[in-house]
Amino acid sequence: KKVSVGVDIGGTNTAIGVVDEMGHVLTKDSISTPSHGDINKYIEDLSAAINKLITNAKLMNEEIEIIGIGVGAPNGNYYSGTIEYAPNLSFKGVVHVVKLLKAHFPDLEAIALTNDANAAAIGEMIYGGAKGMKNFVMYTLGTGVGSGVVVNGDLVYGHDGFAGECGHTTLVPGGRLCGCGAQGHLEAYCSAPGMKRTAFELLAKYNATDSPLANHTYNDLTSKMIYDAAVAGDKVALEVFELTGHHLGQGIADTIHHLSPEAIFLFGGPLAAGELILKPTKESIEKHLLPIFKDKIQLLPSKLDAGDAAIVGASALAWKELNK
Ligand code: BGC
Ligand code: NA
Repeated sequence: KKVSVGVDIGGTNTAIGVVDEMGHVLTKDSISTPSHGDINKYIEDLSAAINKLITNAKLMNEEIEIIGIGVGAPNGNYYSGTIEYAPNLSFKGVVHVVKLLKAHFPDLEAIALTNDANAAAIGEMIYGGAKGMKNFVMYTLGTGVGSGVVVNGDLVYGHDGFAGECGHTTLVPGGRLCGCGAQGHLEAYCSAPGMKRTAFELLAKYNATDSPLANHTYNDLTSKMIYDAAVAGDKVALEVFELTGHHLGQGIADTIHHLSPEAIFLFGGPLAAGELILKPTKESIEKHLLPIFKDKIQLLPSKLDAGDAAIVGASALAWKELNK
């Protein structure tokens, strides 16, 4: 049985899974992404963790054969197999992930890396709600906001490999500082830290000492708490979702203007809040959209299992690489 390995490099954790061609995760694990230090050491740890999982998978089924490794990472570049200047990772400069992994796995034909949101888009296309769609965009909401753009049935990489950084769309000239150093980007409003900032701005604006969110420091407030408070009817939390949807919809409307997709998929923590995030986002899209697009584009939550989407998408990249 042929399987591939999917790796999702996130700000704090790196998730690794052995995945079959149907998108089922056979075995998975995670290691921490270093907050500083040596990239060679990290790739060594990652390779050891991959080898351990392969051994596990073979214990479950001795016929297993690994075809390759797919990696998703913020600021990942498919063309060069590198992660470049990722604001939400500790790695500085340009990191040659594919080259380093190839040294550890010289026999594997298909080792490739792509942007984390691109990997999610590949997963959605092959195993999720975008099956059979030729034109769609995936927005991922997390520590950062990423996107994967699919046009005419294939992922768009662009000239240099970085196409589809919709999270860095400028929404507010001179607005909030983004992790990348620029101001007013969508990510600064719609990422998990962005939503927290909105919550604290609103708490101060209304002097809302009675809000359940008021008892927290910036560091211990989580997106989940904002969600729980919104479900319980807290005004501040509800307005956080309103404003997040407003900003997200503004960015998505422009993505629609640029690409004329069939659907926009949303993935990430806030989607657990369902209509709380979908409704204001839809309203904002409608408000900013050119009439020729109105009522034609579906806004859909990702159909991938939230826990496994990133590794499943990344593993699918290895298949794509093998069959290209
Ligand atoms: C990065 C993207 C990434 C996204 C989600 C953004 O800050 O620029 O490359 O896809 O975060 O991790
Ligand atoms: Na992307």
